[in-house]
Amino acid sequence: MIAHARRPDWRTALLDTIYRLPADYVPPRLVSTSRTGIQAGFEVRREVIRDLRALAAASRAADAGIAVWSSYRSYGEQAGAFDLWVRTGGYRDALRKSARPGHSEHQLGTAIDFRSADALKAPWDYADWGKTKPGRWMGENAWRYGFILSYPQGASAETCYGYEPWHYRYVGRELAAEIQASGSTLRRYLWEHFASVELDDPQPEP
Ligand code: DAL
Ligand code: ZN
Repeated sequence: MIAHARRPDWRTALLDTIYRLPADYVPPRLVSTSRTGIQAGFEVRREVIRDLRALAAASRAADAGIAVWSSYRSYGEQAGAFDLWVRTGGYRDALRKSARPGHSEHQLGTAIDFRSADALKAPWDYADWGKTKPGRWMGENAWRYGFILSYPQGASAETCYGYEPWHYRYVGRELAAEIQASGSTLRRYLWEHFASVELDDPQPEP
């Protein structure tokens, strides 16, 4: 395992089954999504707010409204989420669906699991949320607002996880446009361009 520095770059820090955040890492400037016109009750890094507001407004204008199912999760909350998946389907199944604590983009404060605005239903409870109107709209347009789908379909050998049409990571519009144009997955792009940059402070696994 490779631990990131205490202040990793939120745009480029690679998080996968190898790279992780320190257990006590909490993003600076977490703010409520109530500022986005979506709904309150969730937190993201302040850098995400402006484009999240624009994304939400554009989705509504396209009659494909989105809402937040989950956003920032602390190390402890991620541990709980992972354990829940283990209890539901066993350890091997959990590894395909959930990051172990420290390894989740949700701890970075920039990842959001979206749902449809018109149904209070988990996106993974659809046959394929990516084929719903909001899910499809997100697949086509989220990158324009700085959000990249971390775990696309058919790419799990590269991304480490199964298909998650709801999980987007905000990297800013400029980097999102570059990644979109590259045709690469987020993980491959970050590995190729940034993976060795911020290594320091390696810590033993807890
Ligand atoms: N579901 C993704 C992999 C996470 O737990 O961060
Ligand atoms: Zn997620």
